[in-house]
Formats: sequence, C-alpha cells, structure tokens
Amino acid sequence: MATWSAPGKVFLFGEHAVVYGKPGVAMAIKPRVTVTVRKHRHPPRVRSPYIEECFRSTGVKGSVYIRSQIPSSSGLGSSAAVTTATLAAISDEFGLNFSKEEIARRAFAIEKKVQKGRASPTDTYVTTFGGIVLITGDSKRRLPPQNLHLVIGNSQISHSTAKMVEHVAKERQHNPEIVDPILDAIGAVTTQAIKSMNKPQQLGKCMDINHALLEALGVGHPVLSKLVLSSRAAGAFGAKLTGAGGGGCMVALCPKHAKSRVAGAIDAMGARSIITTIDTKGIRKEKDG
Ligand code: MEV
Repeated sequence: MATWSAPGKVFLFGEHAVVYGKPGVAMAIKPRVTVTVRKHRHPPRVRSPYIEECFRSTGVKGSVYIRSQIPSSSGLGSSAAVTTATLAAISDEFGLNFSKEEIARRAFAIEKKVQKGRASPTDTYVTTFGGIVLITGDSKRRLPPQNLHLVIGNSQISHSTAKMVEHVAKERQHNPEIVDPILDAIGAVTTQAIKSMNKPQQLGKCMDINHALLEALGVGHPVLSKLVLSSRAAGAFGAKLTGAGGGGCMVALCPKHAKSRVAGAIDAMGARSIITTIDTKGIRKEKDG
C-alpha cells in the first residue's frame, strides 16, 4: 500500500494570456488530494477517467482510495492533483521509480487524453513541484517562495475552461486590434507583479488591474465581480478572478489580520471561502492508512 498527496493551485497572474505566450504566475496552495494505491489482481472498477488512465498507461492493477480537500471543477486543479498523486502512489507501490519530471509529464498526457486535447500543463507542473511557478510559453521556472496570505472564494458556479478559452480565441479573431493589446497589458501586469512578489500592496494593485483586464476579455461573471469587490471592501490588498473565469473561483491577497474578515465577506455572499497560503512541497508521500 502506498499513500501520496498533491496540492491544488491558483493562477495569481496571466491566465488566458499564457495561452498566447505571455507570462503567467501560478502557485500551489495548501488544500490537498490524498490517494492510497494498493496492489490488487481484480480491483473494483474506478469511476474517475483520470485514475483509470493512470492504471492503463502504467499497465498495473490496483485499488485506489481518494480523500480530497480541493473542490472539483472549481479551477483549483483538482484533476491534476488526483492524477499526479495517483501516479506517484502507483510508482511507489509498484517500484516504478518515476521522477517528479516523469510524473508531471505523464499526468499532463493523461489530462490531455481525458480532456480530449485541452489541458493545462501549468496545473500538472505546479501540483507536482509546488511553490510559485512562472510560465512563459513552454518553459516553467520556480520563483522564490513567498508567504502570501490568500483567501479563495469559490462561487460554485460551474464553468468550462475549454469554453472560456474558445471565447477569448473568438473575440481575438473578431477584434484583434482590441484583444491583442489587452493580452499584452496582462503580460505587462504579470511582469510588473513578478518584480513586486514581496510587496503585497503593489501585488494587490496588480491583481486588481489583472481582474479588470480579464473582465475586458469577457471571462468575468457578476458573482465573481461581487466577491472581488466585497473582498477589497473587507480589507484585501487586491483581488481577481482566478483560472478560466465565467464561474469557478476568485482569489484575494490579504494582510494577515484581515484574512477572516475577507473570508466572512465571501461567505456572506453565499460563496465558499478557503483561507490558504503557499504549498512548497508539491507531491509528497504520506503515512499509509
Ligand atoms: C485555466 O486555469 C487557465 C487558462 O489560462 C488556460 C490554461 O492556461 O491552460 C485559462
């Protein structure tokens, strides 16, 4: 029996613009998915296509038990975390010796297959390695960790990443002279933010600008806007939607003392708050059981 866990993630800056080669910054966060794998010659059928593909692609047979603190379909990378933790547990249980790079690579291939072509290499990379990651085109680099106090607001409004990505592509096709400068501006905000990672007030301002630009791209949602506004009113340094938008989650950067007030403001609007901070470990082995 082998038990491994993997963290969730948030996009701090640059979602959507990363699809067009602009820089983006994502961070692994504390909530985790924990997966136990045990060798089994006739395992019960699993319902998750991600887990099914983990076993199929490695050619082994086992039973699996999952516990998750990451809400699914919320843009917090739960499918990537399930996939990387399952691959790590399979590797451990069956002595396959996968490196972290191998796990991230295999997990991305699995996500791509299950999601029929559209998957984010950011999610699988960030959950595998942890920390803060700068994404530029195909390259990914870990930035120095920062103890950022975050409050996430889950609107619980379902959304489709594929649809939102397609929406931006269509807008760009119809109005390149408007959409391209917005994508450039998001890239410039991300570049500015990278220089301000240890200055929360400036970082918060960058988040506010990034949110406005995402709304200009048409990936906002009235409920996300309300959550962003009430987080700022409750004392956050800044707030923005995170991930694909159109539903899903927003994230607020807070002074330590304002975390609970911001979380309260999010809950009061009928959304679910998660007070969290950076995870620097990525996938890790847990005690079995
Ligand atoms: C989704 O979490 C983030 C997007 O930028 C898509 C991607 O990076 O693959 C919208």
